[in-house]
Amino acid sequence: MQDAQTLNSYDSTTRWLHWGSALFIVMLFGLGLGIDWVPRGEPKIMVRSVHIALGALLALLLVYRVLWRRRFGVQLDPVHEGRQATAVQFFHVLLYVIMVAMVSSGIVAVWFRGVNMFDLFTIAPFDPSNKPMRRLLVNIHEIIAYVLMGLAGLHALFALWHHYRLKDRVMQRMWPSLLQR
Ligand code: HEM
Ligand code: HEM
Repeated sequence: MQDAQTLNSYDSTTRWLHWGSALFIVMLFGLGLGIDWVPRGEPKIMVRSVHIALGALLALLLVYRVLWRRRFGVQLDPVHEGRQATAVQFFHVLLYVIMVAMVSSGIVAVWFRGVNMFDLFTIAPFDPSNKPMRRLLVNIHEIIAYVLMGLAGLHALFALWHHYRLKDRVMQRMWPSLLQR
């Protein structure tokens, strides 16, 4: 599967999945924080519903991404050697773990708190009387969101460091195909 060209960069599906997921994650973070800012009633229901619908799409994208990366995606040699290579690999796995925790905690929050989706249908709360548990689950989801944004920000800084300071091909390996040089 790996020909001379693809050896230097990830396959286009991997690149689409990477940038697509990153876009979804940033949008979901903004929408998630936005839920608290919009007025109660219709606006809150709509923002929350869009957040949950996009979150469900991200969950599907993530399952596909993990399967693709494990079975078909181009596996590139690490850019670093020894311990540094292990650290980078660990960091990438950690990003996957946090992404999975993110969508799982969202799904658990929906199941426990129940939701009105777009005023079209409702998912009944698991335990309507247990408000503290409901708050705790949403808080856990929020903390994971901050951890994910922090780690993803660090990851992006490393990538930019490679591109602008070290001037190597690391960024090119993941660059969207439209911008490939
Ligand atoms: C990368 C993915 C996601 C990010 C970054 C994210 C982020 C957030 C943030 C920051 C909040 C606000 C928490 C608060 O203010 O207390 C939130 C709330 C919430 N999210 Fe997510 N979320 C993601 C995925 C999901 C998914 C997959 C679901 C479910 C399918 C989901 C369901 C919810 C629910 C039910 C709330 C609570 C809404 C409320 O307070 O009324 N999220 N999310
Ligand atoms: C929420 C945001 C992001 C997440 C969760 C994320 C996650 C990942 C993961 C898991 C990998 C490993 C390859 C794979 O399996 O796909 C990766 C690779 C990469 N990412 Fe990100 N990423 C994010 C945003 C960014 C941003 C904003 C940049 C650039 C500014 C970037 C640049 C790169 C590069 C250059 C690679 C290839 C690294 C290598 O070849 O060793 N990523 N990313």
